[in-house]
This record gives sequence, C-alpha cells and structure tokens, in this order.
Amino acid sequence: MCGIIGYIGERQVLPILLEGLRRLEYRGYDSAGVVFLEDGKINVIKVKGRVFDLEEKIFSNVPQKPEAPGLGHTRWATHGEPSDENAHPHLDCKGNLAIVHNGIIENYYELKKELLKKGHKFKSATDTEVIVHLIEDYVNAGLELKSAFFSALKRLKGAYAIALISNENPEFIIVARNQSPIVIGIGEKENFMASDIPALLPFTKDVLFLNDGEVGILYKDRVEIFDLEGKEIKKNPVVISWDLASAEKGGFAHFMLKEIYDQPEAVKHTLLGKIDLDRQEIDFSKEGLNKEFFKNIEKIFIVACGTSYHAGLVAKYIIERNLKIPVEVDLASEFRYRAPIINSKTLFIAVSQSGETADTLAGLRLAKQFGAKILSICNVLGSTIARESDVVLYTQAGPEISVASTKAFVTQVLIFILLSFYLKRLFYNENESKEKIEALIKLPHILEKFTEEVHSRVKKLAEKWRHIGNCLYLGRDILYPIALEGALKLKEISYIHAEGYAAGEMKHGPIALIEENFPTVILSAKETGVIYEKTLSNAEEVKSRRGPIIAFVSENSEEFKKITEDFVEIPLTFYELLPIFYVIPLQLFAYEMAVLRGCDVDKPRNLAKSVTVE
Ligand code: AGP
Repeated sequence: MCGIIGYIGERQVLPILLEGLRRLEYRGYDSAGVVFLEDGKINVIKVKGRVFDLEEKIFSNVPQKPEAPGLGHTRWATHGEPSDENAHPHLDCKGNLAIVHNGIIENYYELKKELLKKGHKFKSATDTEVIVHLIEDYVNAGLELKSAFFSALKRLKGAYAIALISNENPEFIIVARNQSPIVIGIGEKENFMASDIPALLPFTKDVLFLNDGEVGILYKDRVEIFDLEGKEIKKNPVVISWDLASAEKGGFAHFMLKEIYDQPEAVKHTLLGKIDLDRQEIDFSKEGLNKEFFKNIEKIFIVACGTSYHAGLVAKYIIERNLKIPVEVDLASEFRYRAPIINSKTLFIAVSQSGETADTLAGLRLAKQFGAKILSICNVLGSTIARESDVVLYTQAGPEISVASTKAFVTQVLIFILLSFYLKRLFYNENESKEKIEALIKLPHILEKFTEEVHSRVKKLAEKWRHIGNCLYLGRDILYPIALEGALKLKEISYIHAEGYAAGEMKHGPIALIEENFPTVILSAKETGVIYEKTLSNAEEVKSRRGPIIAFVSENSEEFKKITEDFVEIPLTFYELLPIFYVIPLQLFAYEMAVLRGCDVDKPRNLAKSVTVE
C-alpha cells in the first residue's frame, strides 16, 4: 500500500505535494519522492526514508522554479527493496514521462523482458517502472500520450492506482485505477488526486471517486473521466464531512478496525501472482522455491513470537497433514536458548510481520550457524529478517499500524496454506481440487461479506460480556492456535485476563476455574469431524458446572445452540481455511470489548508494535 498525491493548478506545487505526502505516510513510509516541472523539464527528487528525509533533501538544494503539474509518492515496497533508485516517481528512457503507482503489476516480469528486448533501459527493480516504459513504447510507435496510456493499461494485469505527468503535455495529469484507490479533489481552477481523502482535506472537500477500470484526466479547469474504451463517464462530486483523524483511518474509529476490514484486500493482494489461473495451480517458483531448495529437508522448525507464533502453530497442522514432514513450532525466546537439533537437513521458517523482532532474528541466526536453510514470511520488504533469509515470502498486507496484529496474521496463515499446496504438487504431484482453488480465488469476496455480517452479532456479545475479569478460550486441532490467538487479542487490548487452552486439556486443570461469572469461549467446526463432537463434550462439561459459554461454531450447529444462546455462526469452508474464518470474529470481539472498556485500542499500554529488544 503506498500513498500518491498529484496537483495541477497555479499554486506552488511543492508545498502541496509535501503536505499531501505527510498525510499519507500511514500508507507506506520506506521511501518517498516528488516530481514537478522546472524550465519545461521533468525534475525528480526522491529518497529512501520518510517524507521528512525527502523534505531535507529538497531543502538542501531548493528548486528555483518548481511548477505544476506535480506528483508525490510515499512507498510501501512490494517489489524492489527500499532504496533511492526504487523510490517513486519513475521515468521513461528520455525523461519526458514520470509515473507514480500504488499496487502490484502481476505480469511485470514478462513485460520487462519484452521492453528490455526493445532497448528500454531500466533503473530500478520495481514492477512500477515497467508501466512508464510501456507507455513510452506506444508513444515511440506514434501514439499521442493519452492513447499510449490507454493502450498500456490494457496490457497490465494486477492492481494499480497510477498517475502520470509529461513535460510535453503539461496541461494535464492522467490517472487510472484498478483495485487500488484514487480520489480526485475538485478545486477552483485547480485539481488534485490522491490515494486517500486525508491528503486532499487541506485543499478541498469536494471529491470524485474513481472506480476500477476508469481513467481520469485532470486539467486546471476541469476533470474528464473515461472507461477503458475511452467512453466518457459523468460523475458528480461528493462533499467529504470527515475530519482528518477519521479520514486517516478510512472513516473507521481505530486503525485496528480498519485493518480487520482490510483483511479481504490484504488476502487479495497476497494471492496476486500466486495462483496460475490457467493451470489452476499454486506457484512459488518466482520466489525461488523449487525442488532444489527443499531437497534433503527432513524437519521444519517454525519460530516466531506472539501472533506470528500462533500462525506457526496453525501451519503445523496444515503442513504435517499435507506434506508428512515433521514440523516443530517454537517460541523464538525459548528456541534461541535451548539446544535445538539443527543441521543442513533442517528448514528454519521465521514468521514476523515487522521482520525486526529481536528473538526471532536471534533464532534465525542460530539456525543459520548450524547450516539450516532459512525461509522467512514477512510483511515488511527489506526488513532485517527478510534480508538474512535465503528465501522470503512476503505477506502483502500493507502497513499494519495497530499494535494488535490482525491482517498480518491472516495473510501469514494464507501464505502457509499456499506453500503447503505448492509443495504437495511439487513433491507428490498432487494438485489441489478445483473447489479449493476456486474457494481461494473467491476468498476476498467471501471474507468481505462475512466480516460485515458477523460484526453486529459479535458487538452484541461484547456488550453483554464487557464487565468480565477473566475468560477461557478453548479449541482443538487447527482451532487450538486460534483459541490462543483470540485470547491474546482480548488480553492485549482490553486488559482482561484471557487464556487460550487446548479443549482436551480441560480435565487437566482449567475446569477448576469454571463458575458462573467465568465465561468460556469455545471454537468448534464441523469440518474437523470427530473433533467437533469432542469439543461439544467439553462445552457440556463447562455447562454442567454452570459456566457461561460463548460459542463460535459452524452454521447450524444445533447441538451448541441447545447449551448457549451466545453463539456466532461461521460459514462452512475447507479445513485449511478454518483459522482465517474463526479468527475474524475473535478479532472483532476483542476490539469491541476494548472499545466498551475505554481502552487505547491501537496503542495498548506497555506494548510496542515491534519488539526489537529481548
Ligand atoms: C500481536 O497482536 C502482538 N502485537 C505481538 O504478539 C506480535 O505478534 C509479536 O510481537 C511478533 O511481532 P512480529 O510478527 O513483528 O515478529
């Protein structure tokens, strides 16, 4: 997720671009840049670092006559590590065109090969740079700029929000949207565009929202909107009533809630480029995962902390069921100080949203010392753990601002699902069923609907149980790690003592806790077969001791409805996707409880987003 701002009009362009970028930094902050005209030429200033570093670079050598149109970009790297060269904007060979982009161009690799063959010179490792050279290629073939832009769009696959300026056509900015947001700000003899509303609020509250497949051409005095076939579309501006604080959260009250609702988008972006739609197969070959990498691997260690550790526990059920390779999951703070048996036949998988967690990094370095192969699953491109791994699989969750990890967890689990299906095909030549592949492709849409539907039900449960002091979370099999994760979410943002436990362990201790004002959250899915019945028995044990039950169960679980009126129904899915469906209502339950208790949801006391110390 990146932040884009554009301006065309008579005002000083740089202050507008920088003000807009400052308000978009929550969308990405590993590098930033601006482009504007000066004496009829394109002038780009860009830097690895935050907007502050960009400002420093600009003020160290102030441009004499910067003029509109201009574009700004603050980056969340997906392809090409954070660096000055990989920062946006990117230029064509002749330096007449400048582009900024938010999204992922799935087919950039093929397009880049084609353009290199035609003699185009690339300066960055980004997917974005392909777009501006593709447009240039059409201009070289004799098309005027707007037609070249439309022709290039038709070659792109993936998600994009694009803005382009040209020194040979300074009268307009041209923008296009597909799956990544663009909002256009309407001014008096000036116009703006941005990835999100906060960037526009200082200048205008009259906005137009571009839809997927639409192109906008911004002149000083008008805005024209077209579909991809060039047919003009009429749109009326809407007036934004948000203040800045709520605008940065997309209108949500907290980043955590925004990020829970972002999960379908994060899943969509994580799936991009991983499913070959023609062959209906999962593919990680582009990431460097092939038979050679996994040759001789006899054991897998998954090492992480907190929520990422819970994703590792889920992975154990998925990998051992699909690949029959032994998996050991360890808390990084334990792993690094015990004497784990590691050798060249070990695969060490580090899971870390930030890619900077000290204990996980120490575990990685220990494993490397003993000859293990290192694979990491990270959300931050170019983070320390990523850089020290042999292979990295990135979750494309975008920046996760709230301390409580949500969309990173869901995309970590998704990566493990995709990886296990890929390896099953690689080693056992077993393809996933069409139904499963279809279910993965439809997952973003299904999760979007499910999140909205389940939220109101969960909010009522939070209102009923908001005063509790303790809560037990029980789950079995692949839902046991989700019991742990649900308990972690509740304890870390509402400060209620919540404990996750394997439901089968009830008799070995926790049952002593059960009493009337001590509720038990129970997770049970029909897809787990006999485990579902076993968990029902655990629920009956709790009930018989007058313990209240809050059940998160498969739809139409009549047996559970007989023992509690507090239940949340989860749609049926396939086994590996259960953790994703069951964690969402638990995230929402913890969120609503914390809000009702007046807690600081996004910045809970004593916690940091990334624990870079022991
Ligand atoms: C989860 O909600 C917490 N914020 C915390 O447990 C976190 O998952 C843990 O610190 C690991 O962080 P990482 O994924 O960045 O390594």
